[in-house]
Amino acid sequence: MPGLSERKRILNSIGGLPPPEVVNKEWLHILKEETRNSVLIEGVFVSEDELEEVLARGKPMKKSQAEAFNYYRAAKYFYELAFQGLQTGEFMLNLAIVRQINKMLLEGIDGNGGAFRKGDMKIAGAKISPPPGVDIDQWMKVHKQYILDHREDAGDTAAMHEIAVQHILFESIHPFSDGNGRTGRIVTNYLLVYRGFPPIILKGDDASKDRYYRALEAGDQALRKATKGFPGPEKASAILQAINSAPMENMILEASRTTLDRMIVSILEARGDIALKPARAVAKTLGFAADSMRTLINRGKFVAVKRGKDWFTHEKLEVETLTKTVAR
Ligand SMILES: Nc1ncnc2c1ncn2[C@@H]1O[C@H](COP(=O)(O)OP(=O)(O)O)[C@@H](O)[C@H]1O
Ligand SMILES: [Mg+2]
Repeated sequence: MPGLSERKRILNSIGGLPPPEVVNKEWLHILKEETRNSVLIEGVFVSEDELEEVLARGKPMKKSQAEAFNYYRAAKYFYELAFQGLQTGEFMLNLAIVRQINKMLLEGIDGNGGAFRKGDMKIAGAKISPPPGVDIDQWMKVHKQYILDHREDAGDTAAMHEIAVQHILFESIHPFSDGNGRTGRIVTNYLLVYRGFPPIILKGDDASKDRYYRALEAGDQALRKATKGFPGPEKASAILQAINSAPMENMILEASRTTLDRMIVSILEARGDIALKPARAVAKTLGFAADSMRTLINRGKFVAVKRGKDWFTHEKLEVETLTKTVAR
C-alpha cells in the first residue's frame, strides 16, 4: 500500500492529528462511524439517527443502544488517553487498561465485564480454540510485552505489522467472556492514536466482516497448537514471529489511509486551502480519462474522500505534489 508514510508526514506538516474532541467534525464522524461499524461486526445494527439520539439523550433505552453508547464512550475516552500519551511521549498499556476497556463496553449489560474469563470458550465459526481460562493471565502478559517491546517508532510500516500481530494475538486469546472483538478493536485504535494515526474503521458490512474474519483466521493458524497449553513466555513470543499477518496488515493499512485522508482533507478545507471537487472533474482538469481517476485513488496516488457514493479530491491533493507543497 503506497503512501502511508507520506500521508502521515503530510498530516504532521499541517499540525498533526488533532485532539479527539467532538467539536472537531472529523473526529466526531470517525467516532460515530467506528462505533456503528464495530457493533455491526458483532451483529448489532444501530442507525445514524438512533446513535445521534442516544448520545444526545445520554441514556440508552435498549441493549443495542447501550452497546453503541458504551462503545462510543470507551473509544473516546481511551483515544483521548492515547492522545495525551502522544503529547507527553509516555506510553501506557497494561492489563488494567485492557480490562477497563472491556468493563466500559459491558457496563450495565454484563456483570462479568472487565474480568478475564475463568472458563474455557469457543469462538463462533473459528478453527482456533482460545487458551483455557487458567492460561489467560500469562497469555495477556505476552500480548502486553509484545506491544511494549515494539513501542519504539521503527517506522510506519513496522508499526502496522506490529499492530496487526497484536490484534490477531488478542483475538486468539479471547480473554473475556464477551466483547473481545470490540475491546480488541479499541486497543488497536489506542495503539494507532498513540502513534499519531487517526483511528481506523473496520467496516461491518457482510463482505468486509468476511474479509476481517479471514484475516484473523489466516493469522491465528500459527497459534492454534500453542493455545492448547501455555508454552512459556519465551516460546510464546517466538511463535508470534510465525503469524501470517499480511491480510490483517493490508486491512489496517487501507483503513488507515481512509481516515488519514479524511483528517488531511478536513484540516485543509478548514484552512481554506482547498475546495474538493468530484474526482471526474479533477480528471478533466488534469486531462485524464474520467474513470482513470478511480484507479489512481485506489492506488493511493491522491488524497481523496468518499462522500455518499462519489469520490472527491483535488489536483492539489496528489500525494506527491502535496508532500512538496504542505511540508513547508
Ligand atoms: N478465527 C478467528 N480467530 C480469532 N479471532 C476471531 C476469529 N473469528 C472471529 N474472531 C474475533 O472474535 C470476535 C467476536 O468475539 P466476542 O467476544 O463475541 O466479541 P464482541 O462481543 O465484541 O463481538 C470478532 O469480532 C473477532 O474479532
Ligand atoms: Mg459478543
